Amino acid sequence: MKVDVLLGLQWGDEGKGKIVDVLAPKYDVVARFQGGPNAGHTLEFDGIKHVLHQIPSGIFRAKTKNVIGNGVVLDPIVFKTEIGKLEKFNLEVRSNLYISKKATLIIPTHRLLDQAQEAAKGINKIGSTLKGIGPSYQDKIGRQGLRVGDVLSPNFKEKFKKLVDLHFDILKNVELTYNWPELEAQFLDAVDFLKQFKLIDSEYFLNQELKSGATILAEGAQGSLLDIDFGSYPFVTSSSTVTAGACTGLGVAPSHIGEVYGIFKAYSTRVGSGPFPTELFDEEGERMRKEGNEFGSTTGRPRRCGWIDLPALKYSIMINGVTQLLMMKADVLSIFQTIKICTKYQLIDGTLTEFLPYELVNEKIIPIYTEMKGWQIPLTGIKEENMPVELSDYISFLERELQVPITIVSTGPDRTQTIIRK
Ligand code: GDP
Ligand code: IMO
Ligand code: MG
Repeated sequence: MKVDVLLGLQWGDEGKGKIVDVLAPKYDVVARFQGGPNAGHTLEFDGIKHVLHQIPSGIFRAKTKNVIGNGVVLDPIVFKTEIGKLEKFNLEVRSNLYISKKATLIIPTHRLLDQAQEAAKGINKIGSTLKGIGPSYQDKIGRQGLRVGDVLSPNFKEKFKKLVDLHFDILKNVELTYNWPELEAQFLDAVDFLKQFKLIDSEYFLNQELKSGATILAEGAQGSLLDIDFGSYPFVTSSSTVTAGACTGLGVAPSHIGEVYGIFKAYSTRVGSGPFPTELFDEEGERMRKEGNEFGSTTGRPRRCGWIDLPALKYSIMINGVTQLLMMKADVLSIFQTIKICTKYQLIDGTLTEFLPYELVNEKIIPIYTEMKGWQIPLTGIKEENMPVELSDYISFLERELQVPITIVSTGPDRTQTIIRK
């Protein structure tokens, strides 16, 4: 069987958690392949809202095995809290959650280093979630990180101390207040907690599953425009958020990749700093934020809002080899009389282009818009058959432009508010 990949095509928060939960019953395994506690994936059903950070969004489906892959950076402290929040729902987390021994550990000094690095950037700060993502991936690439499998080693504490000392060497020049004995105790306690779980060679596990005919869904975190190579560098996260990242982050060969679900909001949002060509700074943007409840699931920060950006989406579709598009939060656009779609950019010299310029960060880009009539009716409970014609027109326009079918349209945060198109 194949590994299908679901990933965000914008700057994250497209609604990945909701859709993974919707699709999970079709899959034997759901696996996270990158990112860490910077992610906040929201699921809603039976009137309860859940936000997952490191645990895959298939966890509420009893028959689905959930894997935290080798490409993930895992914070044991956040993990313990997350499991604690799930405890009251009587899920089989100890039997159907598997963690790669090759996943990188986030230790408390990574979070301190994240703060120090952001502070040093001043007004050029990335707007990191400060969860220690950048510093832990730096240690991984720098070949000095700790991995989940290390917690099973009898000399784990020594290894930990060695890395902490390296970090302290940097931190001694930085003004930060923290209580190290407390942070260390909290971490070591969480590491003990982590040991109760299935710590596995996930690349063998996943390939064995494939061989035995299982279906696997790889769950992306963040979005393609935050990718370390293809995002709006340096305003990006530190991992490969694209389809190729699923291969390295899980240990599955490219030939095993099946469908690539590209998920996007019917408009655009971004949290943190960095370029955002279609950003709205006016009352329209404010209304979008309010209607879409656009506040970060991990940090609570207000998300920047703007119209849909087709050059950016086309870029993400190209990099990822997207085979199906999933459009989220269509209901939020119900409040607008007119809906704008950015089809091209105008560069400073007047050139019109559909390409994302290299100098996205410093170049002033003017988005060129096409306007369409809004549907202006609530979409709650709507089925494909009674979709307003203006919404059907919007979908058809996007499909024509993007050259990929939109197979799911989401009309609300709940599991049930999902139209699977025929
Ligand atoms: P993720 O990081 O991609 O999983 O997305 P987040 O959970 O961070 O943000 C998406 C937000 O939109 C969450 O609050 C979801 O509950 C909500 N959401 C998802 N789909 C829809 C939808 O179709 N309509 C509305 N109104 N909200 C949605
Ligand atoms: P999900 O999986 C939206 C953004 C941060 C910041 C930049 C770098 O919920 O879609 P980092 O903490 O990685 O050093 O932050 O990336 N960012 C996200 N934005 N959704 C996310 O995850 C994000 N994870 C990181 O705001 O701009
Ligand atoms: Mg999110």
